[in-house]
Amino acid sequence: MIGNVSGNGIAVGITGVGAYAPEKVLTNADLETMVDTSDEWITTRTGIRERRIAAPEQAASDLALPAARQALEAAGVDPKELDLVVVATATPDMLFPATGALLAEELGARGAAAYDLLAGCTGFVYALAQAYGAVATGLSRQALIVGTEVLSKITNWNDRGTCILFGDGAGAAVVQPVERGGILGFELGADGSGGPDLCVPAGGSRQPITSGALEEEAQFIKMNGAEVFRFATRIMVTSAEELLAACGAGVEDVDLYVPHQANKRIIDHAVKNLGLDPGKVLLNIDRYGNTSSASIPIGLAEAREDGLLAEGTRVLMSAVGAGLTWGSVYMTWTEG
Ligand code: ACO
Repeated sequence: MIGNVSGNGIAVGITGVGAYAPEKVLTNADLETMVDTSDEWITTRTGIRERRIAAPEQAASDLALPAARQALEAAGVDPKELDLVVVATATPDMLFPATGALLAEELGARGAAAYDLLAGCTGFVYALAQAYGAVATGLSRQALIVGTEVLSKITNWNDRGTCILFGDGAGAAVVQPVERGGILGFELGADGSGGPDLCVPAGGSRQPITSGALEEEAQFIKMNGAEVFRFATRIMVTSAEELLAACGAGVEDVDLYVPHQANKRIIDHAVKNLGLDPGKVLLNIDRYGNTSSASIPIGLAEAREDGLLAEGTRVLMSAVGAGLTWGSVYMTWTEG
């Protein structure tokens, strides 16, 4: 789906952002001791130097909580006033109850509808679209959206093709009506034919966790890296191009590009083919790896911290992930 929403009569924006990453750092040198790989291979093929790993007792809601509190504080919103909590995650605390409900309880957001959303690495963009819809229609006044992942717990640490890519973290944003600026448009899509290219086969109703599933290591991420790479390089470009065209904007109008951080080569390809100024790109993959749904909100929080987001800054975000799903959002940043 695609839409220029700037003429909808009500402006909706992000009024606060926050992020949290676990303390433990796993470097490429550490990975060299675990699988047959090298710092040189990982750095040149992916741009990743290190990633954060959650403590054994940390689940998705534990990472989400500090990120959410930071975003709420930045927005000046009391958690009790929240009316919507959407948690995008592929690594929920458990299948149910939803991590969104667990987080709402931790926050004391008793008045909020709270649930999870599963769209892989595109989860945060999908969550932003849902919160936009709820706020734009007046159903919600204060929405919290979170991307949180503990991918280390579904990573096969013996598979060098995947274990070098992923990291843990959380990012959050508060979505509210704003006086000016705000979200200009979305482009979102899914192609389920690519589902098997990036999946966790066991743990659902298709293949419950049994001793046989564990023997096959089917509880871990399985990925056809080359296929996902091909899809991602194409869709990161077309999604952004179609959205900007729908918004009547050109690539030169974009002040800051916050792409999902899956692989620096995918980002470089998108930047080159879109014709974006490389100086306008938020890059932190070297420090976090691929944190899936947390990647864009962590990027936003870092951009805010580094003074890259100011009143009027035009921000383009794009992601691609399991599903296969994709999504882009274009917005004007609002301060205060
Ligand atoms: N260290 C050393 N060698 C390795 C490693 C490693 N960690 N992993 C693979 N290799 C080897 C392969 O075995 C292969 O060797 P061979 O030629 O002898 O067979 C060689 O390196 C090349 O392998 P390729 O898979 O062709 O390497 P490529 O350049 O495609 O990079 C990568 C692999 C990094 C996984 C890439 O395909 C990629 O980034 N894909 C997209 C992944 C992605 O973004 N996934 C997440 C999407 S979003 C989400 O929702 C989670």
